Amino acid sequence: MTALDDSTVRDPDTLRADMVRALRDQDAITSESVAAAFAAVPRHRFAPDAPLELAYDLHRTVPVKKDEHGLDISVMSAAHLQAVMLEQTDVEPGMRVLEIGSGGYNAALIQELVGSDGSVTTVDIDRDIVDRARLCLDDAGYAQVKTVLADGETGVPDGAPYDRIIVTAAAWDIPRSWISGLAEKGRLVVPLTVRGTTRSIAFDRGGEGLLSRSYCLAHFVPMQGEGAAEERKAMLRDGVALRTDDVRVPLDARSLNHALDTPRLARWSGAAYDLPDELELYLTLNLPSPARLHAAQGIVDSGLVEASALKGVPALVSRDSIAYRTRRENQDTGGFESGVIAHGPQADVLADQYAALLRRWAQNHRRRGAATFRYLPGPAPAPLPQGAVLRRHGIVTVTWG
Ligand SMILES: C[S@@+](CC[C@H](N)C(=O)[O-])C[C@H]1O[C@@H](n2cnc3c(N)ncnc32)[C@H](O)[C@@H]1O
Repeated sequence: MTALDDSTVRDPDTLRADMVRALRDQDAITSESVAAAFAAVPRHRFAPDAPLELAYDLHRTVPVKKDEHGLDISVMSAAHLQAVMLEQTDVEPGMRVLEIGSGGYNAALIQELVGSDGSVTTVDIDRDIVDRARLCLDDAGYAQVKTVLADGETGVPDGAPYDRIIVTAAAWDIPRSWISGLAEKGRLVVPLTVRGTTRSIAFDRGGEGLLSRSYCLAHFVPMQGEGAAEERKAMLRDGVALRTDDVRVPLDARSLNHALDTPRLARWSGAAYDLPDELELYLTLNLPSPARLHAAQGIVDSGLVEASALKGVPALVSRDSIAYRTRRENQDTGGFESGVIAHGPQADVLADQYAALLRRWAQNHRRRGAATFRYLPGPAPAPLPQGAVLRRHGIVTVTWG
């Protein structure tokens, strides 16, 4: 159990008070209003089948529904992430709020934040989830929260405009309905997946589209329905996969698998390896032909692929060659140094390109401020701006300070 270390304490009120204290200590909760909401809502009533310790764990999700392969399609999100996202959302009393992706708990927290003058609508694509959320909300005393069964892709126009829209499934795009459903000074908080990595981004309206105010790493179950991700996946061999959402990237599984059997080339950047989430975002969005390399533990243990690929690592791929990030201990670069492993006939070229990007990050961007995301709805401009990520309803661009 995380942060709540006295396992003899099983009283939900005590567990909840401990949870709020720990969320404050970890800077997940930074405002009095969010602290009060977390203190008020009985979290365990929204996870009636889970052990109390799991329900009140800061970093673990509570499973709610799995698909036929045993993968989660609905969970009660981890309290830490919910707190961070509610702080990003900045909900005030009297607001109208739409939550996309239900469970009940987060909607109850938002109801506490908007108070009796505000309104909360939560929509889910899955009837079982809506029914369950309704029961839990009623049971916990939040009958005023409206539950809707629909694909969140179309928003819930009935209650629009919303002061806040908060999405609690990993979105691949931002449909028009979310932007048009926002009030003039409204805010959209959405876990947006770009190039296989997800950030919870708080967007305000900016010019023709949306401009980010803040973002943080987030893990969510994927959005289903009309807005589901468009991604290609190539299994190179058992336990090694490449995924990409960039239509321009060649994914030739046979040639790339063959490349893995050729000798590896290691190139060290001379640059520090730290702030891994920020580095990953930078690499993901700046590699010219990006994919995400995933390797299973057995493959890593065999020495074929580095451990950096266990949770997915940004890779640079050509038709027959591949390069990806690794690291090694190096006190001269502050503890760790970033580097590249490459395979295939073009290993040398790809490793050079990748290492140059690692150095550019270290020299120009590391510890120099955060990224800014922009979403521009409508047909993509031609030519596509450098580094822009093409989506069905618009483009995402990211710039670094
Ligand atoms: C992480 S769970 C939501 C957690 C919830 N907000 C809570 O209070 O803990 C994600 C939910 O998104 C829902 N979902 C996925 N795709 C959706 C879509 N297109 N429209 C609405 N809901 C969707 C899933 O059914 C799932 O219940």
